[in-house]
Amino acid sequence: MLVTSMELLVDARKNGYAVGAFNTNNLEITQAIIRAAEVKQAPILVQISAGALRYAGVEFLPLIVKKAAELASVPVAIHLDHGPDFTAVMQALRAGFTSIMRDASKLPYAENVAEVRKVVEACHAIGVPVEAEIGKIGGAEEHVVVSEREATMSDPDECAQFVADAGFDFLAVAIGNAHGFYKGEPQLDFARLEAIRDRVSIPLVLHGASGIPDHQITMAVERGISKINIDTEIRNAFIRSTQEYVAANPDQIDPRKVFKPGIAAMQAVVEHKIEIFKSAGRA
Ligand code: 13P
Repeated sequence: MLVTSMELLVDARKNGYAVGAFNTNNLEITQAIIRAAEVKQAPILVQISAGALRYAGVEFLPLIVKKAAELASVPVAIHLDHGPDFTAVMQALRAGFTSIMRDASKLPYAENVAEVRKVVEACHAIGVPVEAEIGKIGGAEEHVVVSEREATMSDPDECAQFVADAGFDFLAVAIGNAHGFYKGEPQLDFARLEAIRDRVSIPLVLHGASGIPDHQITMAVERGISKINIDTEIRNAFIRSTQEYVAANPDQIDPRKVFKPGIAAMQAVVEHKIEIFKSAGRA
């Protein structure tokens, strides 16, 4: 069933688990994510970036996800990932998104607050919750590219001030996480996460979770992370598995057969993440 992310993340925060937020670009990825959630009886967010909307059509991809959410036996929210500006947010709301991120984290503090407040006013008027970010998460996610040098961790006091000043619902933190695959083993700053959790009473979001080892994910969930974003590992599973299939079956030209192992591989990734996020059986 289609829900907003508010009910999902408030329950996650209260009960000490995290809801997976999985990125989609097309029908096949959407099917894999929803099937995994149904197998695991887990609430989820299916998230769409501005780049995915450009690729698949702003009128088209949200319709697929919305219909899949309505038909699902588990609660599903449709989330705009890294909303780049007010226009993108308005388009998403019109397309039926039930959860919005406005990412103005590259702007100076006062502008970040002003941009988020504007979106909060519009979204809250129609009951849609808003995620915002402070600090700069490293790596590349669609149009959001932050070099290692530019990446800055979220400051706990500034997090509390940001929540108070901008009035949004979920806070994305930078605690050593980065989009895309990590070069070495990532080292999340758990002391920083605890300090943020102690100062902020809204659900916290971990971006860039592909490649973070399971035990660090567990520690992050235990320290108050309520939403965890996964994109790269899903793409990787789809492409690697499809490459293997095509190499073994070079004459196969039926896309339905070619994509089948890739869909299964993505579903397996999402099922595993749901287990380590402790959201299995929470639907
Ligand atoms: P990964 O691509 O590292 O999984 O990050 C996804 C993400 O944070 C989307 O906002």
